[in-house]
Amino acid sequence: MNVENPKGLKPGEARTPGQSTREVIERDPIQPPAAVYDTSYKFIGDADISYDRYIDRDFYDQEMEKMWAKVWQWACREEHIPNSGDQYVYEVGTYSILICRTEASEVKAYFNSCLHRGTQLRPTDFEGTGENFRCPYHGWTWSLDGELIDQPCDWDFPHAKPEDFSLPEVQVGLWGGFVFINMDPDCQPLEEYLEVLPDHFSQFFPLERRYIEVHLRRTLPCNWKAAAEAFIEAYHVRETHRDGMWDSNAATNAEYDLYGDHVNRFIHTRGYPTPTWPEPETDQDIADAMAARIAEAEKLRLELGEKYNFDMSSYSECEMLDSIEYFCFPNMFLFPGLSLPMIYRFRPNGDDVDSCWFDLMFLRPLNEDEEHPEPPECVHLDVDQVYATVPNMDQMLATIYEQDTSNMEAQQKGFKASKKRGQTLANFQEVRVRQLHKTLDKYLEG
Ligand code: FES
Ligand SMILES: [Fe+2]
Repeated sequence: MNVENPKGLKPGEARTPGQSTREVIERDPIQPPAAVYDTSYKFIGDADISYDRYIDRDFYDQEMEKMWAKVWQWACREEHIPNSGDQYVYEVGTYSILICRTEASEVKAYFNSCLHRGTQLRPTDFEGTGENFRCPYHGWTWSLDGELIDQPCDWDFPHAKPEDFSLPEVQVGLWGGFVFINMDPDCQPLEEYLEVLPDHFSQFFPLERRYIEVHLRRTLPCNWKAAAEAFIEAYHVRETHRDGMWDSNAATNAEYDLYGDHVNRFIHTRGYPTPTWPEPETDQDIADAMAARIAEAEKLRLELGEKYNFDMSSYSECEMLDSIEYFCFPNMFLFPGLSLPMIYRFRPNGDDVDSCWFDLMFLRPLNEDEEHPEPPECVHLDVDQVYATVPNMDQMLATIYEQDTSNMEAQQKGFKASKKRGQTLANFQEVRVRQLHKTLDKYLEG
């Protein structure tokens, strides 16, 4: 049951009794990069978040027009298009973007729609190589640089001069081995949009020097925001993951940080259990828990070092073990750690308000002399296909993700069934949910 907040604390100031994440990490014998200690929480309100935001058609359409068309979002990894002529289709909601590597080895992106009568130049999920973009309908053809180079029966199109029919471009940015796109020609530069990410990630093992070990995309039975929010807080661990994570993960004392409008973070320690509660830990409890954490990190350095042929001996306990999770609005999750090296992305699925696509990748480190191998094919899972069937999938995590997924359909249905018309968030542990909505509002308000 709830204990009463100690008197005199303002909203957002209360914390679970026991060791904080920072206190645990400060005791680690190998200290992590300074970025780990860049704590930055603030209280940003406690009003309910309306359920209409997850179920209303008009709200969904507004998101498409005013948010998705205006934000930077990662479309693929650079290793998906390493060579001139490589092409990749990225879709979000009803938008379809065609990305390519030009002859000059530049990355360019276009709206994936023929300027004759609208046909998609490349189908959904296309990954391939070609010298140009030839429309399958009547054969209008564009170069990789977007110039119209073939217009069959051009005598019939005196009103459609090739110089006026270049493919409209989409903005492209590169960071951390990811290709980002932005459909807004007046958008802010990607580096600015990413706020603390370039600085923080320059202190961890670089994302661009990692390769894709696993890539899956599962359709999930809820609005894209509800799916993202299932991964944005550790508060649910004590209930949803009681079987699997509770005894080895510190959940209710996780740290939550907000930076700017787009980026936030949580860190929850592993190998160190949630502090005993309501009894405070004794010095002996803390010493025992730390010894277990340090031993667990050392075990992982050896096991993962051998498995991935990579020397992990100098990496801190925090980077080896902890769930360090950055979020970049609207839908990117990045984990810089070495045993939990995940990337998540949640995208609206066509014009279906009630479902979304979840992309999951594991990025493993490359040694200095190693090249990026060819990325594995993305495994597509339907709503009722399980994570455990994906090749190379970590089976412990597959179980955890299944537990998360099981909440989603129930929540999406509950949004519609509820008499109370919004969700009530924790001030500290669910602050990242609130920030997502606040930033979304900024885009919707223009
Ligand atoms: S629709 Fe593309 S060439 Fe006709
Ligand atoms: Fe979870």
